[in-house]
Amino acid sequence: MYVCICNAVTDKMIREAAAEGVSSLAELTRRTGCSGDCGSCADLAEEILRDARGRRPRVRFGLPLVAQAA
Ligand code: FES
Repeated sequence: MYVCICNAVTDKMIREAAAEGVSSLAELTRRTGCSGDCGSCADLAEEILRDARGRRPRVRFGLPLVAQAA
């Protein structure tokens, strides 16, 4: 779903950014443009970012990231 209409940023893009280490709205704005115009999406974007950051490590290729680093 689109979170930021002004910059066509979706919840998936926010979750991907979080998985890549983005941890603040300011950082998300720099990376995606989300919340960089009217700002009406800021609260929802921040909530999705917080939710995504609170999740367990993402699983890629069937192995948790922690296992891949070992
Ligand atoms: S809806 Fe995100 S900046 Fe306007």
